[in-house]
Amino acid sequence: MNKKELSFALTTPLYYVNDLPHIGSAYTTMAADVLARFERLLGHSVLLVTGTDEHGQKIQRTAESKGLAPQSFCDEMSVGFVSLWELLNVQYDRFIRTTDHRHEAIVKEFFQRLWNTGDIYLGQQKGWYCVSCEEFKEERELLDEHRCPLHPNKQVEWRDEENYFFRLSKYQSQLQALYESKPDFIQPSSRRNEVKSFVNSGLQDFSISRVNLEWGIPLPVDPKHTIYVWFDALLGYVTALLEPDQEPTLENAIAKWFPINLHLIGKDILRFHTVYWPAMLISAGLPLPERVFVHGFLTKDGQKMGKSLGNTLDPISLIKCYGADAVRYYFLKEIEFGKDGDFNKSRFIEKLNADLANDLGNLLNRTLNMVKKYCGGNVPQITNDNIPFDHPLKGIGLRLGEQVKNAYETLAFNQACENILSLVQACNKFIDDQAPWSLYKQGRQEAVELVLYTVLESVRLAAYLLSPVIPDISSDIYQQLGFGINFNDQIQTSANAPFEIHSCWGVLSSQQKLGAPHPIFKRIEISEND
Ligand code: MSP
Repeated sequence: MNKKELSFALTTPLYYVNDLPHIGSAYTTMAADVLARFERLLGHSVLLVTGTDEHGQKIQRTAESKGLAPQSFCDEMSVGFVSLWELLNVQYDRFIRTTDHRHEAIVKEFFQRLWNTGDIYLGQQKGWYCVSCEEFKEERELLDEHRCPLHPNKQVEWRDEENYFFRLSKYQSQLQALYESKPDFIQPSSRRNEVKSFVNSGLQDFSISRVNLEWGIPLPVDPKHTIYVWFDALLGYVTALLEPDQEPTLENAIAKWFPINLHLIGKDILRFHTVYWPAMLISAGLPLPERVFVHGFLTKDGQKMGKSLGNTLDPISLIKCYGADAVRYYFLKEIEFGKDGDFNKSRFIEKLNADLANDLGNLLNRTLNMVKKYCGGNVPQITNDNIPFDHPLKGIGLRLGEQVKNAYETLAFNQACENILSLVQACNKFIDDQAPWSLYKQGRQEAVELVLYTVLESVRLAAYLLSPVIPDISSDIYQQLGFGINFNDQIQTSANAPFEIHSCWGVLSSQQKLGAPHPIFKRIEISEND
């Protein structure tokens, strides 16, 4: 395998800084972190890119409305993203801000390449512009009174101005060939079909510069113009690949991590990533990303979230109240990644109590207490060979690592969690059926030990495979089982808990010194306000 096959570069969108991060931005970022953590467990070298999109009319106007210079406004707002990712326990490798001076150099060099191929020309742009989307809209897409379908409380604005255009139309057949030859380029397939029919209906060149807008990167060939915010932002993915002290050239940026393996995005920014972006890269003579995965939108209590509706969900207060693991678990387990999903407070509490406090937490706690009572607090002296293949837990455990790997790799996070939880639930049933307390009373010590060992080993395996989603809880479980492993420590985890060993059944050994049992997730009491 070459180096690129063992490495994995993935991105979140670069978030607009016009507002504080919302649950939608947190959703993509936590999914990206889960996948990055899983890839690291596999022993791959991973680069997780996130950051902020800071130019354009929307940001300039918001800064003006607050009486701030755009740069100071962006400096202030981007900190909010950094601190939310810390709170959410996101281990990103690069945080790119599009106002980083190195980014300007990359954008200008890239622009120059397209200019040299003759793919950029000056023209007249007439059309309806949605500042919130930072995108021209077709008249037929609009709601009445020229309102944007994605921002129904905002009217689009008429523009008739000189802009530079990118010859997108020239790439129609190459894009069509791409979607055919690489069916996995856009996932899920429903999104691929959407893009295919959009491209089949004919592509128009799009404008990549603005006049009368100062807050952007000046066009190298005509500084009266600034570069269109989306053209600039997509290139943030490239700038982010530079090593921290490297000279900002395209050659340096693409040397190690390019092409990017995976872009994670929401459904509203599909065209930019699957039509405009690949065409820009083809024009620049650069290789294309391997995959773009599109997730759905989150609603609250079945309703679209929005400030005007007054039903936004603040990720910071949710994490402060329930912890990062709880929030990560709910969104990844309860929502199929790729489909729309809903947040409802009572369901959130119910799920966390059922899965984390009861099924997983109580299981570990009661098993450790029984080990204390019936086995002197030591891991029973059982080796894997003593456990028959048709043992109900071993049977599940032997297949689980592979199933869960497959689920993570296809971004079926809910499936991964469900598979793991089914082992945990099987353990609870197994204990109830076997009743080790009765076996103990009957003096059947060996049988007691077999039950307790197989349950503890199952909990270990579940904790390991859940560690990308709930790293703190998994670390706590591992420590109670006597492993000195903290899943937030990448170096220690890859050295001492590699996937090829720890994802298999039968790792717990009688040499382990068990830690003191304590609850891994405190049951949430439902208050009047919930
Ligand atoms: N700045 C652009 C991205 C440039 S990438 C080179 C942008 N930023 S954004 O902050 O408006 O949106 C970022 C992401 O949040 C998008 O993927 C969008 O789909 C996602 N979400 C916005 N609202 C959302 C929900 N209600 N639910 C889930 N994700 C949502 O677009």
